[in-house]
Amino acid sequence: MTRMTDAQRALAHAFPKDFIWGSATASYQVEGFVDEESKAEGRATSIWDTYAHVPGNIADGSDGSRACEQYTRYPEDIALMKELGLDAYRMSIAWPRIFTSLEDMRAGRVNRKALDHYTCMLDALREADIKPIVTLYHWDLPQYLQDEVGSYGGGWANRETALRFGDYAAALAKGFGDRVETWTTLNEPWCAAYLGYAQGRHAPGVRDDAQALAAVHHLNLAHGLGVAAVKAELGEKAQTSVTLNLQVNRAATDSLDDRAAKAQADRIANEVWLGPMLDGAYDPQIFEDTRAVTEWSFIQPGDLEQIHQPLNSLGINYYCTQTVRRAPAQVHPQNAREDPIVGGTNIDILPPEGPLTAMGWNQEPGGLRDIVLEMSARYPELDIMITENGSAWEDELVPDEAGEGELTVHDPDRVHYLSEHLRALNEAREQGARVTGYFAWSLMDNYEWALGYSKRFGIVYVDYPTQRRIWKDTARWYREFIRESRAA
Ligand code: NOJ
Repeated sequence: MTRMTDAQRALAHAFPKDFIWGSATASYQVEGFVDEESKAEGRATSIWDTYAHVPGNIADGSDGSRACEQYTRYPEDIALMKELGLDAYRMSIAWPRIFTSLEDMRAGRVNRKALDHYTCMLDALREADIKPIVTLYHWDLPQYLQDEVGSYGGGWANRETALRFGDYAAALAKGFGDRVETWTTLNEPWCAAYLGYAQGRHAPGVRDDAQALAAVHHLNLAHGLGVAAVKAELGEKAQTSVTLNLQVNRAATDSLDDRAAKAQADRIANEVWLGPMLDGAYDPQIFEDTRAVTEWSFIQPGDLEQIHQPLNSLGINYYCTQTVRRAPAQVHPQNAREDPIVGGTNIDILPPEGPLTAMGWNQEPGGLRDIVLEMSARYPELDIMITENGSAWEDELVPDEAGEGELTVHDPDRVHYLSEHLRALNEAREQGARVTGYFAWSLMDNYEWALGYSKRFGIVYVDYPTQRRIWKDTARWYREFIRESRAA
C-alpha cells in the first residue's frame, strides 16, 4: 500500500481546515436502473441509451443500464464516502427520470417517484454529513427533447431545450430546495456541444458544425435560465455555479501563427462559455472565426442579459493540456473530424508527450495551477472549485497483502497524478487563488461514455459482475490525505 510521504503530509497541512474534499460522479455513469423495473418507477429514454445502442458507437458495446447500480446501492456508497472522510459528493440528477414525457414536462407534471428517490438520497447524504453538490445536466438529455426539431436541429440545437431546462431547474429547486446548497447548471457544455453535435463522438452523434454552434448558444441560454429559476425559487440561500472543462492550450512555438492558433482555440473552447456566462457578451472575433459555418442567427434579443447571471462559484474540470499550432490550410482542407474544435479553424493539435494515462492524455499539473490562477485573477468575486480531476490506468485486481480487504489495486500512477495535481492546486492557492474545494474523478469506476467500462477512473474499483466496491491504494491515500489536512 502507498504510504504518504513527508512532503505529501506537509502539503495536506497547507490546505485550510475548511477546504472541501469530495469526489464526483454523474447519473448516467453510475446509476444504472435503466431496465423494465425502472420503467415502472418512471424514466424516459435518454440520448445516451439511444446512442449506446447503435453498433460501433461504444468501444465495448456496453450501455449504462447497469453501471454501478448506484440508484439502488446508494446507502452502501454513502457509507463508502463516509469511510473515505469526504466532505462533499458531486452528483447529477437524471432529467429523464424527473420528466418522463414531453407532455408531462410541458404541463409541469413531475415524476413523484424520482423526486422521492433523490430526496431519500439527499437525506442520506445529509445524515452522513456529506454536502451534495448537484449538477442539473451531466449529458443525459431526454430523448423526447432530441426528437423535437426546431429551425436549427433537435436537442440542444433547438431553442426549446433551453427553455425546458429552465422549467426543469425550477422543478428541482422546488423539490430539493432545502436539501441542496450548491446548484451547478451544466457539466462541460463543451462536450455536450462539440462532441455531441460536431464530432458525433458523444450522444446524440450529430456531425454538423452549424448545429454544434447552435447547441453552444442554447446551452448558454439554458445555464442563464437555470440560474434564474433556482434563484427565483430559493433566493440568495442557493449557491449557483457552472462546471466548465476549460482547455489549457499551449502554443507549439512562439511564432505569430501558432500564438494566433492558440488564441483561436481558447476562444472556441473557453470564451464561448466564459464570455456570455460571466462577462455578458460573446467575443465578436468568435463570429469571425466561425463565419463559414453559421451566422449565429439563433441569438435572440435579450439572450445575453438572460445568460449573464451572477454566480457564486466556477467549477473547473481539469485533466491535461494540449499543444496547438496553426495548420497549413492544405493539410486540413475541411477540418479533421478528430479535431475537437469546430470547422474551418485550421488548428492542429500535436500528439501529447508522455508518460500518458490510459486515456492517452498527458500529465501536466502546472496546467491546473495556470488555469486556476488565470480564472481567479479574471473573476476575483467567484470561488473556484475543482469539480473533477483524475486519471485512468490499467488497473489490476490483486490479493490485498496488507489485509484491509481481500483484494486491492496497487495504482501508484494514480496516487502520483493526484498528489502532483494537489501540489499544483496548492501553489495556485498560495499565489492568491480563491479555491474552496477539490473533487476527485471519480468516486468509483463507472461508465466512461463512448469508451464504455474499459477505462477506469475510480479511486475505488468496481467489480462489475458482482458490483463489489474494492479500495484501490488511491482511496486509502486520499483518506489519509484528507485526515492529515484536518489535523492540527
Ligand atoms: C469529464 C466528464 O464530466 C466525466 O463525465 C468523464 O467521465 C470524465 N471527464 C473523464 O473523461
